[in-house]
Parts: sequence; structure tokens; C-alpha cells
Amino acid sequence: MNWLETHMLDRAVRSLRKHGVFPTAGKAVSACLETVIHPRHLSSHLRVPLEMIRHPEHIHHWVADRFRTSRALDQGVPWLAWPCVDYLSEYVTPQHKVFEWGGGGSTVFFLKKGCALTTIESNEGWRDQLRAGIDSENSTRWDLRFVPADSSNAPGQQDYINSVSSGGPWDVVLVDGWNRPECAARAREWVRPGGILVFDNTDKPKYSSVPELFAGWTRKEFRGLGPARSWTTKTDVYIKPKALDLSSARTS
Ligand SMILES: C[S@@+](CC[C@H](N)C(=O)[O-])C[C@H]1O[C@@H](n2cnc3c(N)ncnc32)[C@H](O)[C@@H]1O
Repeated sequence: MNWLETHMLDRAVRSLRKHGVFPTAGKAVSACLETVIHPRHLSSHLRVPLEMIRHPEHIHHWVADRFRTSRALDQGVPWLAWPCVDYLSEYVTPQHKVFEWGGGGSTVFFLKKGCALTTIESNEGWRDQLRAGIDSENSTRWDLRFVPADSSNAPGQQDYINSVSSGGPWDVVLVDGWNRPECAARAREWVRPGGILVFDNTDKPKYSSVPELFAGWTRKEFRGLGPARSWTTKTDVYIKPKALDLSSARTS
């Protein structure tokens, strides 16, 4: 057996142990399909069945969502790609200090995980709905800051972006609100070494240059179905090196 075959076999065995037979078979089929065509070149209708093959463990969530109208906030799950939700479910611990731009299901999720959480919200009505959706027993670990940041309010935008510096460094930063590339650029120095930055909707062309901000960090891409949506989405996680090699890091 050559090196490639040994490597593939090793991956298959690890996947079987971790995920079971059907998800492993799904991943194998999708890997073969992706050698022929990449998901981003498929129409949105074809991406849904492809992601179902890749991640059969999420099909039942997707089907259940078709029969209910509840939002990610009501479900208490982050409004991100399901594979990323799975990753965060394993990664996040009660010891983590978390910062998020844009509250919602992610807010409920991090608080349920026992984290200390800071949420920056720019929409007043949504801020009120968030407050109403959070159990008071969790609110002592929750700092909800309302920072208006619409395009006609430039000073508010800078406050919104700079809010990450107050209370940091953070173990986890979620970029899921307004002006994401600028927020992500500002957050780089406020993620503790070894911590993570989560950037949502990276399948959108307007975020295509974001990876350049994170030279020297490890990037994990999570494409898949997502809660409370019928289409596919993509969320990236950037892991900050424990000791950043400054020669390879790009400065702002
Ligand atoms: C993508 S959402 C944030 C989602 C959140 N991080 C989560 O995981 O559920 C980004 C912004 O959309 C705005 N928003 C307004 N109405 C909303 C709604 N019904 N659902 C979700 N977000 C809403 C809020 O200002 C929020 O900060």
C-alpha cells in the first residue's frame, strides 16, 4: 500500500469512528463529486442535495425546519452552517470569554454553554427581542451593548467596530453583524493566542478577500445546511496561532 492509500484509509477509519457509517459514506461520495465539480459552481438548488450527501446527519434538522417557522433565536442555535455549529458545540467551554457582533441564536447558544458573553447589537428592535429571549438566570454572564451603526451614522460605526477592544482579549469572536470585514480586521489583535474568530456567510463574493486578513492563522471552512434556512451557507473559523509569526502576518 502506498502513502496515499494509507493516508486515505487512516482518514476513513477515523471518520468511521467519529461519525459512523452513513456520514463517512456521504463524505466519500461528496469528495468524489467535488473532484469533478466544486460546490460553488453548482446552482443553489443542487447545493442542498450535495450538502445532504456530505452531511446526512443534518438532514433531519433541515426537514424539521421545513415544518416550522421558528427563528434561530427561538431554537437557541447559532444561525451559521450546521457543520460549524457542530464544531462550536465541541469547542466552546464555560471558561471561554466570547464576543459577538450580531446577536440571535448564537447568543442563546453561548449563554447555555456557560460562557461569559458580550453581544454588540446595532438594531434597537432586535436588541429588545434578544433581551426578551434570554433567561434572566443567564443574564449575569451577559453584557448586551446597543451600538447604532447604520450607514448614516459614521461615528456609531467606529464605536461598533472598536467595541471589541473593551473587555478583550477574547477566546471566541463571532463576526455576524454589520460591516464584517472591518470588524474582523479590528478583532485580530483582540483574539487571544490559540483563540478563534468565526466569520459567517463566507460564500458571499463580497467577503472573498477576508482570508487575506488572516495570514498566519489556520482557516477551517464549514459549508453546509444551516438552521432556519432552506438553502446552504458557509462559515469560516480562523484559529489564531499560539505564537504568531509576525513575519508572515499582514498588518492593517
Ligand atoms: C445574521 S444576524 C445575527 C445572527 C446571530 N449571530 C445568530 O447566530 O443567530 C445579524 C443582524 O441581523 C439583524 N436582525 C434584524 N432582525 C433580525 C431577525 N429577525 N433575525 C436575525 N437577525 C435580525 C440584527 O441586527 C443582527 O445583529
